[in-house]
Amino acid sequence: MHIAIVGCGQLSRMLALAGIPMGLKFSFIADAGEDSRCVEGLGTIVRWQPSEPVSAIYDGLGQPDRITVEKEQVDVSLLSALQAYCPVHPNPQAFATCQHRYQEKQLLDKLGIGCAAYLYGQPTEASAAKIPLPVVVKSCREGYDGKNQWVLKHQQEVDAFSQQAKEQNYIVEQWIPFDKEISQVSVRGANGEMRHYPLAENRHEQGILKQSVAPAEAISEQLCLAAQDYMCRIMRALDYVGVMAMECFVVKDQLLVNELAPRVHNSGHWTQSGSKTCQFTNHLRAIAGLPLGSTDPHGVTGMVNLIGTIKPPLASLPPNAALHWYNKAVRPGRKLGHINFTGANRESLIRQMEMVLR
Ligand SMILES: Nc1ncnc2c1ncn2[C@@H]1O[C@H](COP(=O)(O)OP(=O)(O)O)[C@@H](O)[C@H]1O
Ligand SMILES: [Mg+2]
Repeated sequence: MHIAIVGCGQLSRMLALAGIPMGLKFSFIADAGEDSRCVEGLGTIVRWQPSEPVSAIYDGLGQPDRITVEKEQVDVSLLSALQAYCPVHPNPQAFATCQHRYQEKQLLDKLGIGCAAYLYGQPTEASAAKIPLPVVVKSCREGYDGKNQWVLKHQQEVDAFSQQAKEQNYIVEQWIPFDKEISQVSVRGANGEMRHYPLAENRHEQGILKQSVAPAEAISEQLCLAAQDYMCRIMRALDYVGVMAMECFVVKDQLLVNELAPRVHNSGHWTQSGSKTCQFTNHLRAIAGLPLGSTDPHGVTGMVNLIGTIKPPLASLPPNAALHWYNKAVRPGRKLGHINFTGANRESLIRQMEMVLR
C-alpha cells in the first residue's frame, strides 16, 4: 500500500520510518518553500502550488492509496480535492475544526467537555474585562510551540496589547493555575475501533514541550477514564480515523481540555520505546484499515526534546536511551530530535532526563 503524507517534517519522517518495515511505500507533499530534509530518501516529494491541478499532484505522488497529514495548519481545500482520488484520513472537516481555536472550543462546548473560560469575537479589552486576570490571548490559527499567544497579567498589559492588536481574531482565555499538564493520545480505526495510550505528563517551557513521562503518575482512575471518554466523544463526533492528541490541564480532580491535535503528537513520542505499538504504527494501521495494535505500556518511559543549536548526542547516550534525530537544519529554539529513556524506576529516569536538559 502506498501512503502519501502532506508535510515533510519530523512527524512525516517518523511515520515513514514506522511504515517501511510494514511494507508500506511513502510519498510526500511539500509547500513551495518547505524544507524537506526530514523525509529525503524516504519517498517521492511533490512540491505543491495552489495553481496546479490536483490530478497532477495525485499523479506526481504516484497515485497513492491513502493520504494523511502531519500538520494541523494544512490547506483544507487541497485535502477536500484529493478526496476525489483516494481516502484522506483524518478527514478534511476534522482539520477545519482543529485548526481554528474557536471552532475547536465550540466542538468541546457542544460535547459538554470542560475547558478554560474563554471569549471570542470581541475587542481584547472587552473580553479581558469579563474574565479575571491573568488571561492568555491566543490567535485562532497558526499557534504552535507557544507562538502567537500572550499572557496578560495586569490591566496595563491588556491596554498595551489592545492598542497594538491588529485584529480581533483572538481567543481570550482564562489563565489556569494547573497542577499538571497531561495529554491523552488515542487512535480510532476505520471501523470505529478505539484504543487509548496511558496519559503522559508533560512539562512545557515558554509554551514549548520539554519533556513527557508516561504513564503519568498520581492521576486518579476517574480522571484517566474521563480523558478516554472525552476522546471517544470527540473522535466519534468528527468521524475521525487515525491518531489524535488532546492536551489537558489537571486542576485538583478536574480535567480541562487545552487543545486538540489532529495528528501524531510530540507528547506521544515516548510510545516508540514505551508501548507495544507506537503512535506512528497505530496511525498507519488506522488509516490503512488494519486492526489496531496494543497501546499497553512497558514500564515507564521519559521523552526529552532536543531543542536549539546542538549536534546529535550520540557519544553520550546511556544504554537505556533511544535517540531520534530529525535531520533538520539547526536553528535556535527548533526541535531537532528527541531521546526516549526506558526503565523501571521513575526517579532514576527523571534524573537522567534532567541531566540531558541541563
Ligand atoms: N489558559 C492557560 N492557562 C495556563 N497555561 C496555559 C494556558 N494556555 C496555554 N498555556 C501554556 O502554554 C502552552 C502552550 O499553549 P497551547 O494552547 O497548547 O498552544 P500551542 O498551540 O502553542 O501548543 C500550554 O501547554 C501551557 O503550558
Ligand atoms: Mg499545545
